[in-house]
Amino acid sequence: MKPVLVVTRRLPDAVAERAAQSYDIRTQEGDDPLSRNEILTLCHGADAALVSVGDPIDAAFFEELPDSVKIVATFSVGTDHIDLAAAKKKGVIIGNTPGVLTDATADIAWLLILGAARRASEGEAEVRNATWSSWRPTHLMGTQVTGKKLGIVGMGRIGQAVAKRARGFDMEIHYYNRRQLPADQEFGATYHNSMDALLPQCDFLSLHCPSTPETRGMVNTDFISKLPDGAIIVNTARGDVVNDGDLIAALKSGKLTAAGLDVFAGEPNIEPAYRDLKNTFLLPHLGSATVETRNAMGFRALDNIDAFIAGKDVPFTV
Ligand code: DGY
Repeated sequence: MKPVLVVTRRLPDAVAERAAQSYDIRTQEGDDPLSRNEILTLCHGADAALVSVGDPIDAAFFEELPDSVKIVATFSVGTDHIDLAAAKKKGVIIGNTPGVLTDATADIAWLLILGAARRASEGEAEVRNATWSSWRPTHLMGTQVTGKKLGIVGMGRIGQAVAKRARGFDMEIHYYNRRQLPADQEFGATYHNSMDALLPQCDFLSLHCPSTPETRGMVNTDFISKLPDGAIIVNTARGDVVNDGDLIAALKSGKLTAAGLDVFAGEPNIEPAYRDLKNTFLLPHLGSATVETRNAMGFRALDNIDAFIAGKDVPFTV
C-alpha cells in the first residue's frame, strides 16, 4: 500500500505523474483555494500534505491536524502562509523549495522594471482596445532604464540574479542586506548598511526581502519620502511588505513615477485602487510561473516528502 499524500492544488503534469508513482493522492476535483476545514478533511488518515502559497496553514490548522500527518511540504520557497511556531509545537516538519526559482523570479522583476518604466500596461491597453491613434513624438513617453541607479533590498539569490541582469542595462547597482556579501556575489553593486543610506540612491527599487514582522508595511510614506522624486518601485517579494495606502498615495501624487507589482497583500483580493492607476504594471504572482521552474519546485517538494517517508533527513526544511 502506498502512503497517502494530500495535495491541495492541481500540480504540473510531470510533478503529478511522479507523485502518483509513489503515493496514493488525495486531492480536489478543481483548482480553487480550499478552506482550512476542507484541507483538514482530506488529511484524515493521510501521511503527508503538499500545500501551496495562500493555503491557510495557520495555528488553527495545526491544532486540528491529524497526528498521522508529520510533514507538510509547501510548493513554494515562501512560508508566510504557514504558522511555523505552531508546526514546531505540534512536531510537524515543514519543507519548502529554495534555490530553484531564482532565475524565473529575477526575470519577472525585470519584466516589472521594464513594464513600469515603459508604460507597458497603457500601451498594451491601447493596442487591445483599438484606441491607438498614430505614432507621435510625445506618445506614452516612459523612463529610460539604461544608465540609471537600481537599488536592491535583500541580496539573496534572487536579488543577486536581478543585479546580474542589471549589468546588461549598464545600471549603477546599490543594495541593502543584513550583511555585506563577498565581492563575487555583489555583481559590482555598492553595499549600504542601512535602508536610509540606500534609498536616496535609487531611481529604481526592487524588493527581495521576505515578509517578517520587521519588513511588514516597511514601504510606507516615510520610506518612500527617502527615494528620489520620480523613482519606480517593483515588488516580487511579498505584498504585505508594502503599505498599500501609502504606495497608492505616492503614485497618485507623482512622488513615484510608477510601480510594478507581482505580489499583493490579501491576494487575490488586491487593493482595488491599484487597478485604476495608469502608472501601475500588475501581474498575478507569476514570479516562478515557468514550466521549468514549477516542475523543479514540485520535484523539490516531493524530494522533501520522499525523504521524510523513507526516514531520511528532509533536504529543505525551515
Ligand atoms: C514562493 O515560492 O514563495 C513564490 O512566491 C512562488 O512564486
